[in-house]
Amino acid sequence: MLVSPSILAADFANLQKELEMINSSEADYLHLDVMDGVFVPNISFGFPVIEAISKISLKPLDVHLMIVEPHKWVNRLKDLGAEIMNVHLEACLHLDRTIFAIHDAGMKAGVTLNPSTPVSMLVDVIDQLDLVLLMSVNPGFGGQPFIQNTLKKVKELKELRDSTGSSALIEVDGGVNEATGNSLSEAGADILVAGSYVFKAEKPLERISLLKHL
Ligand code: DX5
Ligand code: ZN
Repeated sequence: MLVSPSILAADFANLQKELEMINSSEADYLHLDVMDGVFVPNISFGFPVIEAISKISLKPLDVHLMIVEPHKWVNRLKDLGAEIMNVHLEACLHLDRTIFAIHDAGMKAGVTLNPSTPVSMLVDVIDQLDLVLLMSVNPGFGGQPFIQNTLKKVKELKELRDSTGSSALIEVDGGVNEATGNSLSEAGADILVAGSYVFKAEKPLERISLLKHL
């Protein structure tokens, strides 16, 4: 299992310490949740914070944009060294064009689906994607309970991927812990995002390791 801890649940007053913990962990990526108060009912952090994080993080940055018009920021994110740029399908009028622009900038392209958006919406772009990020909570906040219907969506997405020859990884975000992580692993998820489960724990390194070895 690949693991992408979400910094949203970290102690922002001690970000350097939190990042050093992630650097020393078995995590594969660092998940960054950008919220604009328009696409989702919350505001998190933006480019200056990502820039500071990118100078310390040894893990590739997995950026999850919960913002309207994400195509405007492709070059900015590339300059900050993002490895993966995830855009919400619901926020893109011209998804095909945006995926092309992300690749053209040299980043991996991820498309994110809200819990209410069916997997079938990806049928005409799946072969172009490096990953699909399935939201297992409604985006905007950490610490929410896992929506069980996501397990069905992971299986559907796996079928769609395998039937089209796509190599897109399946990433799941929201309410991930040992129990839901185990179910997601059985359903076919490739990457687990975890915020509270990692950063609110007394022993975050052990929690990352536990998810890693699911
Ligand atoms: C929610 C974010 C998540 C969030 C997950 O909108 O996209 O990445 O940090 O937090 P937990 O793991 O606490 O549900
Ligand atoms: Zn996220």
